[in-house]
Amino acid sequence: MTGPDGEWYLSELANGIERSRILSIATQVKKMKDEGKQVTAFTVGDFSPEQFQVPLSFTEALASVVHQNQTNYPPAAGLPELRESLSNWMIYKYGLNVGSEGIIVGSGARPVLFASFKLFLEPGEGLAHGVPAWNNHYYVHLNSAKDIAIEGDSDSRFLPTADGVKERISEIRVLILNSPLNPTGTCFTADELGAICDVVLEENHKRRKTGQKPVMLVYDQVYSTMTVKGIEHVHPVQVRPDMFEFTITLDAISKSLTATGLRLGWMALPPKLAAPVIALIGHMGSWPARPIQQAAAETYSDPKKLELYFEDLDSRISDRMEILFTSLTQMRDSGLPVDFIPPQGGIYLSTRFNLFSALGVNTNEEIRLWLLKEAGIAVIPFQAFGLEDESGWFRISIGAVSVDEVSDAMVRLENALQSIH
Ligand SMILES: Cc1ncc(COP(=O)(O)O)c(C=O)c1O
Repeated sequence: MTGPDGEWYLSELANGIERSRILSIATQVKKMKDEGKQVTAFTVGDFSPEQFQVPLSFTEALASVVHQNQTNYPPAAGLPELRESLSNWMIYKYGLNVGSEGIIVGSGARPVLFASFKLFLEPGEGLAHGVPAWNNHYYVHLNSAKDIAIEGDSDSRFLPTADGVKERISEIRVLILNSPLNPTGTCFTADELGAICDVVLEENHKRRKTGQKPVMLVYDQVYSTMTVKGIEHVHPVQVRPDMFEFTITLDAISKSLTATGLRLGWMALPPKLAAPVIALIGHMGSWPARPIQQAAAETYSDPKKLELYFEDLDSRISDRMEILFTSLTQMRDSGLPVDFIPPQGGIYLSTRFNLFSALGVNTNEEIRLWLLKEAGIAVIPFQAFGLEDESGWFRISIGAVSVDEVSDAMVRLENALQSIH
């Protein structure tokens, strides 16, 4: 039986949902690999378990809880012992004290991210986000929000600036910031973040007098434990304590413990705002499995031991980044048309392949396809993160590659670039 297209049956919201561009590139790469082609996948923000393992104590605790038959519903906000561990961790690491009642867990950062937008935004209200940035443009659509894109550029290490936020502040209801930033691997300094907080605080001071609802800051710090030596992750409440009542912090074991498939994230918010989030997470049923929660409670109850795991993880990320950094610097210094922004955190590197004139092309997509075919390297153009400029900037992710793969890929890249130089 034939009938109208699927679109006819669906809501406007459903018809408007964009598929992830990153995942469609990843599918293309997988197909090439299955056909036996040599491709290094610098694409997904996932951690391959062959390269990066979750702490052994975590998987042991997980197995033991499963064997104890702990299979019933957990409480919607999370197990009390987990909320307690995470609350103590946030105090220890970032000086942020929301108490255990201000911690709400979900199955990864995404459900708590979704919940934090739902908490504040009415349809048509302004959701401001940096560009380039991971996935915010999809959330603007899901919330029927007004899209307020604040573009960064290479001078700001692609981070949004206080001036950029100030220009649009009167239209903003929710501002989302991410540091270390996906896709650029760059971090706010205390001064940069402080200047943005000052813009928010000044606006909120004005709004309080006129009875207008405040600007809320959603601070996505899922890569906060991954910074290069000499770079400190900063939190809004550390730099401006008055931001406490306006800040929702998001974090997840997806990145911190390289446990993307285990699905546990959390939100830290002023406790007086917690009740509707707990109900929303409960209605969506998006709480993490009870055994995962139990294992995370144990892991996060020992911050000192956790720091040792993070140190080791940082050094394995840095092994890969060092090769990229050294190889790209050599290529750039020898006159090849590549550039990059020194990595500061996370698992990403902003890299510029300025091949427009060498290849006689106009788009990042054409450069991407050339890199894939001629150098066997798969990268993601900044367009996938909302930056539409055809300027040759791409994200390199090291989450799924070995040290040897990175070295081999850099040799292939240099050869390919030499061939068109
Ligand atoms: C900045 C940022 N926030 C949130 C997430 C989502 O994390 P999760 O997998 O825990 O939902 C990601 C995933 O790549 C991310 O890069």
